[in-house]
Amino acid sequence: MDIKKITTAEDLEKAFSIRKKVFVEEQKVPVEEEIDGFDVLDGDCEHVLLTDDHGAVGTGRVRLVDGYGKIQRVAILIEARKNGYGKVIITKLEQLAAARGAKKAKLDAQVHAIGFYEKLGYTVQSEVFMDAGIEHVLMTKEL
Ligand SMILES: CC(C)(COP(=O)(O)OP(=O)(O)OC[C@H]1O[C@@H](n2cnc3c(N)ncnc32)[C@H](O)[C@@H]1OP(=O)(O)O)[C@@H](O)C(=O)NCCC(=O)NCCS
Repeated sequence: MDIKKITTAEDLEKAFSIRKKVFVEEQKVPVEEEIDGFDVLDGDCEHVLLTDDHGAVGTGRVRLVDGYGKIQRVAILIEARKNGYGKVIITKLEQLAAARGAKKAKLDAQVHAIGFYEKLGYTVQSEVFMDAGIEHVLMTKEL
């Protein structure tokens, strides 16, 4: 298993492919909401790619917002879940944010994933709200 910050257009395309399968095809998020202006190389977001023996299977991105590392688009292909890869992705994104000076991390967690983020030290900070047709809560963590 390998986790790395994305630095090439080829790897960014692999990340988009994972996100399309997970968010658009599996979770039915509208494709026009899935990709946004942060999805470029050398922009505000740092993207990561996790690869195993089957190829690229996981991704996520982080950027600094008001001193927080804001984590988004965390996705593991369905067949690769429950192997600890999600934890590896979050840890890498936290490290990237901390290296840029973030003291805390925040994310909008899908309600089904609250337990996943709680295991990684995040706590719920909001009521449930809707985004892209999916129930979410704000969660934060001290880095
Ligand atoms: C949420 C997601 C990223 C988790 O990835 P994963 O690789 O399966 O998670 P891990 O194997 O690293 O799990 C780490 C721990 O969290 C637990 N966990 C994983 N998913 C969980 C869930 N949905 N609810 C509660 N606990 C969960 C695991 O059992 C594991 O616990 P352990 O350390 O005691 O063994 C993955 O299910 C996914 O991509 N889902 C679809 C996209 C999505 O919803 N992304 C999140 C948007 S907010």
